[in-house]
Amino acid sequence: MRILVTGGAGFIGSHLVEELLKQGHTVITLDDLSTGKKGYLNQIIHHHNHVFVHGSALDRSLLNELMENCDVIFHMAAVLGVKNTVDHPLKVIEGNIDATRNVLELAFPRKTKVIFASTSEVYGKNEQLPFSEDFSNRVLGSTNTHRWCYATAKALDEHLCFAYGDKGLPVTVVRYFNAYGPRQNGTQYGQVIPKFIKAALKNEPITIYGDGEQSRCFTFIEDTVKGTIACLDPKANQQVFNIGIDQVTTINELALKIKSLSHSSSEITYFPYSEAYGQGYEDMQKRVPNISKAKQTLNYHPTVKLEDGLLRTIEWYRQDLKHGRDDG
Ligand SMILES: NC(=O)c1ccc[n+]([C@@H]2O[C@H](COP(=O)([O-])OP(=O)(O)OC[C@H]3O[C@@H](n4cnc5c(N)ncnc54)[C@H](O)[C@@H]3O)[C@@H](O)[C@H]2O)c1
Repeated sequence: MRILVTGGAGFIGSHLVEELLKQGHTVITLDDLSTGKKGYLNQIIHHHNHVFVHGSALDRSLLNELMENCDVIFHMAAVLGVKNTVDHPLKVIEGNIDATRNVLELAFPRKTKVIFASTSEVYGKNEQLPFSEDFSNRVLGSTNTHRWCYATAKALDEHLCFAYGDKGLPVTVVRYFNAYGPRQNGTQYGQVIPKFIKAALKNEPITIYGDGEQSRCFTFIEDTVKGTIACLDPKANQQVFNIGIDQVTTINELALKIKSLSHSSSEITYFPYSEAYGQGYEDMQKRVPNISKAKQTLNYHPTVKLEDGLLRTIEWYRQDLKHGRDDG
């Protein structure tokens, strides 16, 4: 197939592009390099079935041109991260809604299948666990608290996907749960695993926000990509899937594991959320996916245990730091 990947130089996107090429597809990668890096595509930049285009999904005419003769679009481009959400809400709202609307509007007349990268954040602060795709309620905070703008923008993107789906566009929504692995950059965007690993490798303090008893289900990138590619199956059309793993880890456990797996002497310290992200910032205590729908429909079975994924990720960061590529 001929496939367009927006945000293909990003963390998930670059692994996805590599795997699609391995499977024999032709891939066009579109990325504005706002958080992605061309270097993440080093191994495939000259692949005969791959073209990299430096540009934005906000550029309709470019997008229109790149979609020509494509069979599928993986729309991964997004403005994300806790810090962006809190400090740059307009960038988050416009960057997510305008780009997704462009992709869907331009894919629609051609009936080009769109696989859209959404997030577990759309479940908001629902306390009913595990999160199932067919929950009838989402629980989100106030609109004057920027913390909720990313979840709301992605939820509106999902509405757009299903509205076009009703009109006959083949579309699949994928809700990711804390993907991690090599190339997840951006300490400045509040992602916990890169931040902890970089601190551990430098023997600097590993700083936990809050009391560390909040938990997440960390999904290794290989499993994330497997689940995403499985959505090429027509059975996935007009459907939403949780793509994650159901192994629950608290942030305290994560910090200890990273410290021990990287043989670090880092001290573990604590910092109040309110000082990191401002008063009123709400962090979810728990977020656990119900992945039975993806298992049954897509034959998606995540297999990488946290320790194994962390070891592979730590090794990547070790090399990254050694070669002076630390992207802070
Ligand atoms: N990593 C996770 O755990 C996670 C969780 C939930 C959802 N997601 C979603 O998965 C997708 C990929 O996330 P990621 O973690 O790889 O983040 P990332 O920041 O590494 O990737 C996003 C990519 O999109 C690019 N980009 C941003 N705006 C663009 C635009 N207008 N045009 C072209 N490129 C643009 C960035 O340069 C970057 O390469 C995003 O849609 C994100 O919302 C990720």
